[in-house]
Amino acid sequence: MRISGNKVLITGATAGIGEALTKKFVSLDNKVIAVGRNEKKLAELTQEDKRIIPFRCDISQPNDLDKLIMFVEQNHSDTNILVNNAGIQFNYDFAIEPQLLGKIEQEVKVNFLAPLQLISLMLPMLKNNDNAAIVNVSSGLGLVPKKQAPVYCGTKAGIHIFSKALRYQLKHTKVFEIIPPLVDTQMTAGRGKDKISTEQLAEEFVGAFKKDKYEVSVGKISLLKLINRISPTLADKIMKNGGER
Ligand SMILES: NC(=O)c1ccc[n+]([C@@H]2O[C@H](COP(=O)([O-])OP(=O)(O)OC[C@H]3O[C@@H](n4cnc5c(N)ncnc54)[C@H](OP(=O)(O)O)[C@@H]3O)[C@@H](O)[C@H]2O)c1
Repeated sequence: MRISGNKVLITGATAGIGEALTKKFVSLDNKVIAVGRNEKKLAELTQEDKRIIPFRCDISQPNDLDKLIMFVEQNHSDTNILVNNAGIQFNYDFAIEPQLLGKIEQEVKVNFLAPLQLISLMLPMLKNNDNAAIVNVSSGLGLVPKKQAPVYCGTKAGIHIFSKALRYQLKHTKVFEIIPPLVDTQMTAGRGKDKISTEQLAEEFVGAFKKDKYEVSVGKISLLKLINRISPTLADKIMKNGGER
């Protein structure tokens, strides 16, 4: 992939991994359409760098998605990279959680349904542009789950398998998957140890992106894959409690 001179749409650009990817892409002289719900943060991002184009959107809302696509088609039809990064994680016991249906719906919509819908809506535009790519952010928990977040793990396993199958189908548009380990963000605040920084993740991703390495195993994910291949039982044991002893 050419890593400069692109126009990149990034969901969840207002915090954590998405914010780091936004800043990394801009530092490499790309323009970024930054998508999220936090308007104050979006305004701050664009104030920091005019190459960041803010767009407020709740990706779980079909009306918001339509408005986003209309905005991109009318003003930024040269967008050639889509990064599906926005995500949420709820930790709870499935059998006893109150308001379970709403939680299931929100997690599935943000983590799985919206990325697929965005890909389908953006594909015609991507196909018209050179150096086109889709980048989906999954998780090590989509390979080996933890017990506290069954729906989250299910959505990430879905993104993992979907990305692979879509890669088989698409010829013009490259399909990348970032598989992060534990990263230091709001999502993991107060839990886990040995977290990597968002900047480290962005750096590792760009290195792989440049070389067309489609499945990007960040940090300890390569080791997790190896253990899972040699001894799935051991991998399950390590990950069952979220990698924490
Ligand atoms: N942190 C980790 O250890 C880790 C590990 C593996 C995978 N991941 C994955 O990496 C991605 C980013 O996670 P993170 O750790 O950076 O999380 P984070 O710091 O909590 O940031 C989440 C981002 O998603 C956006 N978002 C959430 N719901 C949204 C919605 N309905 N519509 C639009 N945007 C929404 C938030 O923006 P607004 O609040 O502005 O809407 C925010 O920018 C996620 O897909 C996550 O599953 C993270």
